[in-house]
Amino acid sequence: MDSAAADTGTTLPPLHRLPTTPAQPPHPTTLPDGTPAWLVTRYHDVRQVLGDPRVTRADLHDVGTAGATADVAANPASLFNQDGPAHRRLRGTVQRAFTPRAIAGWQPWVAAAVQQSVDRLVAAGPPADLVPAFARPVPFAVTTRLMGLDGDGPDHLDEDRLLRWTRALLAQGGEPSAGTEPAADTEPSAGTEPTAGTEPTAGTEAGPDHTATLAEFGEFMGELVARRRREPGDDLVSRLVLAADQDGGVPEDSLVFLVAGLTASGNESVAGALANALVYVLGERPGHWPRLADPGIAERTAERLLHYIPLGDDEATIRRTTAPVEVGDVTIPAGSVVAVSLGSANRDPAVHPDGLEADLGLPLPVPTLAFSAGPHYCIGAWRVRLEMRESLLRLATALPGLRLTTPVTELTWQLGGTTRSPARLPVDW
Ligand code: HEM
Repeated sequence: MDSAAADTGTTLPPLHRLPTTPAQPPHPTTLPDGTPAWLVTRYHDVRQVLGDPRVTRADLHDVGTAGATADVAANPASLFNQDGPAHRRLRGTVQRAFTPRAIAGWQPWVAAAVQQSVDRLVAAGPPADLVPAFARPVPFAVTTRLMGLDGDGPDHLDEDRLLRWTRALLAQGGEPSAGTEPAADTEPSAGTEPTAGTEPTAGTEAGPDHTATLAEFGEFMGELVARRRREPGDDLVSRLVLAADQDGGVPEDSLVFLVAGLTASGNESVAGALANALVYVLGERPGHWPRLADPGIAERTAERLLHYIPLGDDEATIRRTTAPVEVGDVTIPAGSVVAVSLGSANRDPAVHPDGLEADLGLPLPVPTLAFSAGPHYCIGAWRVRLEMRESLLRLATALPGLRLTTPVTELTWQLGGTTRSPARLPVDW
């Protein structure tokens, strides 16, 4: 069932140890497939470039990259691959569904879902594997509740099916299915692509043919959207359909891709982020673990972990200039491909002098770029922060003596198109 590549050796470093290109002025580089590009790495340069309307996402489908890179290869109908008015319209629709009031209303049950997973883990007793026993069930419970897929009937989604669809999607690099129904697209939850100076270490295997699996996923999502249009509920899919229909002009395929991406990639990215965060804290900062029972420390630690630990091995997100753009003393010519390194910017010593080894309970000196900046800023950031904070807080409160029983250097990895996370996290308490 599990079609994603699994690294059974111990050749890959944990993601928090991945090297990043040091922050420096923009300079020409070459993407892994040979595409010439400009690499932007400094914190303020990255913020500037991501917020500049002359630096766009659209028309990047002709930029070939090595391996399966979901966001470049993805369907142009996806939110991420649009710019200007079309992007603003779809994004506005999403924002009408994700109101601060709606998010505030979701918080109590997200906390309850995390607590349930903690209680089940504790009740089952040690030893345990935190991947199937915690890092996967928490986001799955939140995803299915959020999208209204936790009931009975045709909308019911079980964990194995979602995992199978997600693996096919990530292994295929987010290509739409060949079916007649609009298919799933990965919204770029990882938001990153291979870039200069990084080997695409965690590519996906060619693997089995995922066409049928993706067609099944596309069909499910297309029917789900149609059903919620007929019979709306109080879930996010219904809110998105309603907002799109009220706004008008949102193409149906964009809407279906969005719902599919929020379900599959949204779920997978939180599962990966949680597991990779636990690798670092339990594996290398065990003394910090019991401190996480303090809500303030849990919140600040969550932010630091999201800031410093990427979701996968790819370093940069890709854009293109539509006019000459001055960045510092450098002019990037019109029509250039620009590789924007969020990882380098987040480690730029000019603004983040203390680095990963600092006290994890301290606030970051400047806002993180882990969720990007500008018009494509991650729409799931609130959800990731909330689940990470609640997970650290509740797990450390219940199990202050939790410890990893496999050294970090011996962990094996589950590889996806843009994500990597431990295949297992054996623990004891
Ligand atoms: C740790 C987890 C996550 C990380 C690190 C992350 C990171 C990012 C980044 C960096 C971008 C922008 C990429 C760019 O500017 O090139 C992005 C966009 C996006 N993310 Fe996330 N994300 C995460 C989880 C999620 C989740 C859980 C969801 C959905 C519930 C989500 C939905 C999206 C969407 C829809 C976009 C596209 C927004 C647009 O183009 O306007 N992400 N994410």
